[in-house]
Amino acid sequence: MAFLDCNKAMDYLSTYKEKDGLSVKDLMNSKVNGGLTYNDFLILPGKIVFTSKDVSLDSKLTKNITLRTPFISSPMDTVTESDMAIKMALSGGIGFIHHNCAPEEQANMVRKVKKYENGFINDPVVISKDHTVAEIKALGKKLGFTSFPVTENGKVGSKLIGIVTSRDTEFHEGDQDPIADIMTTDLITGKYGISLEEGNRILMESKKGKLPIVDDAGNFVTMLSLTDLQKNQKFPYASKSPHSKQLLCGASIGTLDVDRIRLAKLVEAGVDVVVIDSSQGDSVFQIEMIQFIKSTYPKLEVIAGNVVCREQAAELIAAGADGLRIGMGSGSICITQEVMACGRPQGTAVYNVCEFSNKFGVPCIADGGIQNIGHIIKAIALGASCVMMGGLLAGTTETPGDYFYRDGKRLKLYRGMGSIDAMQKTHQNANASTSRYFSQGDKVLVAQGVAGSVEDKGSIVKFIPYLFNGLQHSCQDIGVRSLAALTEETAKGTVRFELRTPSAQYEGGVHNLHSYEKKLHN
Ligand code: IMP
Repeated sequence: MAFLDCNKAMDYLSTYKEKDGLSVKDLMNSKVNGGLTYNDFLILPGKIVFTSKDVSLDSKLTKNITLRTPFISSPMDTVTESDMAIKMALSGGIGFIHHNCAPEEQANMVRKVKKYENGFINDPVVISKDHTVAEIKALGKKLGFTSFPVTENGKVGSKLIGIVTSRDTEFHEGDQDPIADIMTTDLITGKYGISLEEGNRILMESKKGKLPIVDDAGNFVTMLSLTDLQKNQKFPYASKSPHSKQLLCGASIGTLDVDRIRLAKLVEAGVDVVVIDSSQGDSVFQIEMIQFIKSTYPKLEVIAGNVVCREQAAELIAAGADGLRIGMGSGSICITQEVMACGRPQGTAVYNVCEFSNKFGVPCIADGGIQNIGHIIKAIALGASCVMMGGLLAGTTETPGDYFYRDGKRLKLYRGMGSIDAMQKTHQNANASTSRYFSQGDKVLVAQGVAGSVEDKGSIVKFIPYLFNGLQHSCQDIGVRSLAALTEETAKGTVRFELRTPSAQYEGGVHNLHSYEKKLHN
């Protein structure tokens, strides 16, 4: 057989009518297996003409909020409270604070995020002069740090009277002596309101490990720490309000009348965006809530959902939603599809809703079922602008709750908001309003989620950069310089796809090894 001239390979390529692989439309229409999930397909590689560092991950959260990364933490009571929301915003994403708590509690968490200043200790542990040396030694062991400011009543906001460090306690023999006997009272302090730079300068000049910050009356407010200064983490992608430079913060609400009161408190605390938390968002209650928010707080961004079909999306877009949340039954703790027989495979849901919503400039969040970097890039290729994560972030340092040990593993609780555990908390607390999974009058709770545990994943300050770099490399392999370009080139048919048979999925995973360790990042 005579071969063609290699120099003409590119010319010959152009004689093919279509690019290799499937367009996203053909991928979605090839319903050989019914609806598709992220694992059912792959994206074909493109041409690399840039470095991965050149890839922009800028992503629209809502019509009027753009983030530097597409990462969102879910409003679940084992995922997002203020610590998580602060670190998500610092890392370039955003956290949505859950509402399985009293409105004041939720508003206070939002306030904490909005008031956060990088470098100052957010929630300092304070003691009183009556604590004994033994108690402080035990506290140091439990918390992993050994310096504590001492105030009149043992709380933040009360008069600072000393500071106690390991140097004071370590070799002190009288374990039952009160801290007042050994604390350092010769204090160098900073005035509340000083900048981080100024505080750090005083701290270094003082040659001490901690700098307590006090108000005009000498009451303790916060603290700067030399160890933090040495770590000096910079957050170049932090999500901030353009005017106040405060971190962006989201929160969830329900659709009950009491949620209007809750919302007023959240707005007062400075919330930037709310998500109306419902597993089936296409309801008159949600439409009324969107209209209420848009007429009462026209500047507040509203994300509606959840939806999985374009008909649902159309209703919420017409009602005024600034963003949509997509997913029903795809969450890792979810049994909605099993119990309700309602839902949709997540890949198909994301494609169909985004294909419609993107025409109206309404950004979509792919929510649930994100297990790895590959799932994130696939969700974005299917049209989503951001991804919401519960399970992938669960078990990190910033999630609520304490670690515990089981089977030699360090674990944290992770539970669905429709699990009996989470719903019972709502029932017991008259002020909580997670109406996501039941009606107020329900006597019998029908679970749509489970409660479980996940392994310690360390801090998201390391985990989010891992996701970030991974996405940049993935975009480079696909040959797109940004997430926006990925969505556009997919819609145009330039980015191509391939379906994966079950054996292709097997082949794509690690196989035929006797044993191995799956370490994802350093
Ligand atoms: P994951 O990231 O796969 O763990 O999914 C998290 C998502 O699951 C959340 O953002 C919610 O949309 C959804 N979800 C939370 N709790 C429940 C539940 O109890 N049942 C069903 N879905 C839930």
